[in-house]
Amino acid sequence: MSETHLTIVDHPLVQHKLTIMRDRDTSTGAFRQLLREISLLLAYEVTRELPISTQRIQTPLHAMDAPVIAGKKLALVSILRAGNGLLDGILELIPSARVGFVGLYRDPDTLQPVQYYSKLPKGLEARMTIVVDPMLATGNSSAAAVDLIKQSGARDIRFLCLLAAPEGVARMQEAHPDVPIVTAALDERLDDHGYIVPGLGDAGDRMFGTK
Ligand code: URA
Repeated sequence: MSETHLTIVDHPLVQHKLTIMRDRDTSTGAFRQLLREISLLLAYEVTRELPISTQRIQTPLHAMDAPVIAGKKLALVSILRAGNGLLDGILELIPSARVGFVGLYRDPDTLQPVQYYSKLPKGLEARMTIVVDPMLATGNSSAAAVDLIKQSGARDIRFLCLLAAPEGVARMQEAHPDVPIVTAALDERLDDHGYIVPGLGDAGDRMFGTK
């Protein structure tokens, strides 16, 4: 099977906002607001291949066959808890999307994902499913979440993150070569604790003001 397709959204607005988010002096409130704004721009990119059909409508001047999104509503799956920061923004753009949650925490010793929650929408086989998690670090949680989502029937899956490490991209390529990845940046590497370098720190802590 071909390699996972990786898209880096190098739009100036995305890159500018990401730089402010990376800065350790950026406040929790600003971080959250910027994540919401970036998520709208990333959502634009990750939904680029949604299938289109036409609908007959009447403008004030004329009848036309106008483009509309075809098929079932798409599904968003947030990997708790940091995924919710991306989810909130995307839902503003696509309010009718179905939403699922997968709860995984990373065992600090093994860095392996441990599942503690899963609630997914029905009918995933007929929907494009976008999995959201800001940080694609080791890729272990992401790969495990996509395993679960595939077990629920999803076939057309995309992975949306803010930052990716080469290690995480490689892990996803190995486990799920059929799942395209969209990210705002591909950073250098992981440190010994599984943090992305240079990164932005712990996305959940920065978003929610915990530490
Ligand atoms: N999760 C985070 O929040 N940050 C990282 O750098 C890696 C994983």
